[in-house]
Amino acid sequence: MTAQNTRVLPEGPEAIAEAARLILAGELVAMPTETVYGLAADATNGEAVARIYEAKGRPGFNPLIIHVSDLTQGEEIAAFDEDSRALAGAHWPGPLTLVLPLRDDAPVAALATAGLPTVALRAPAHPAMRDLLAAVGRPLAAPSANASGRISPTRAEHVRASLGGRIALIVDGGASGHGIESTIVAVGGGARRLLRPGPIDLGIAPWAADGIEAPGQLASHYAPAKPLRLQATEAEADEWLIGFGPVAGNASLSASGDLVEAAAKLFDLLHEADARPAPRIAVAPIPEEGLGIAINDRLRRAAAPWEGQA
Ligand code: TXA
Ligand code: MG
Repeated sequence: MTAQNTRVLPEGPEAIAEAARLILAGELVAMPTETVYGLAADATNGEAVARIYEAKGRPGFNPLIIHVSDLTQGEEIAAFDEDSRALAGAHWPGPLTLVLPLRDDAPVAALATAGLPTVALRAPAHPAMRDLLAAVGRPLAAPSANASGRISPTRAEHVRASLGGRIALIVDGGASGHGIESTIVAVGGGARRLLRPGPIDLGIAPWAADGIEAPGQLASHYAPAKPLRLQATEAEADEWLIGFGPVAGNASLSASGDLVEAAAKLFDLLHEADARPAPRIAVAPIPEEGLGIAINDRLRRAAAPWEGQA
């Protein structure tokens, strides 16, 4: 990641025009929302989403919240039912995130949902974020705009202290209204499961699958259904090889060894490997640096269930 000069512009038409230009160019912009500041990227662009993880310095991938203008844009991404439509109707725009089945044709990069078949959606109420969504005309992936392990930012100054030098622009909209992240609820099959308590009280208790998992951690992570072998420099007879850099493989995460490109392609190629006839998957070595740390974290988890079973 190259060091950047992080500009701060006060909320307003000029800031939104510049933010929209940067987002459409695949860059990151920190935006005020009514909950906390978000680090926004074009959710349709896998490399832009990869830069979110790079800037936050997160050692793994977790699914991100996708921000939309309204229910109409939301329906292009997720399958709503009567209950989810009613919740969106009652609380959007606002600090309620709905976890719903992802549509097959959803215009969202696989990295943004970490390869899951579900997606977390919300229509934010903050006028600056709404103006940006309207100007861009695309969904925006936006986790809280803090470096990994730091608390969520509620002022532009917090964002600058945490991510200054790593992102192009911070739009300063003053202090966030709520100061805590949105309520997250998974909806479907006639049930509502509260995954993260937040500003909107739906009158349900946090849902715990087995009493051990923490709320918000409930999304079981995507992993391929086949055995996966790491650090492979060539394919064995029954393997489909995911390449990187000098290891060409059946398909490459990045022939040039670019980790942003590799992160953007990771879940697409894991899904493709799963769909191929070969019964096993192999993956070329990925350097343990920058985004490679998050990529290797996910690959090790995907390989772990199969260890010792070969
Ligand atoms: O208030 C907010 O929601 C802020 C502002 C910026 O909008 N955004 C935010 O985004 O908190 P983020 O990406 O940090 O939230 C991610 C949370 C994680 O806890 C993740 O587990 C959950 O959303 N999540 C995302 N997709 C999910 C899915 N498919 N299933 C279950 N949980 C999901
Ligand atoms: Mg966060």
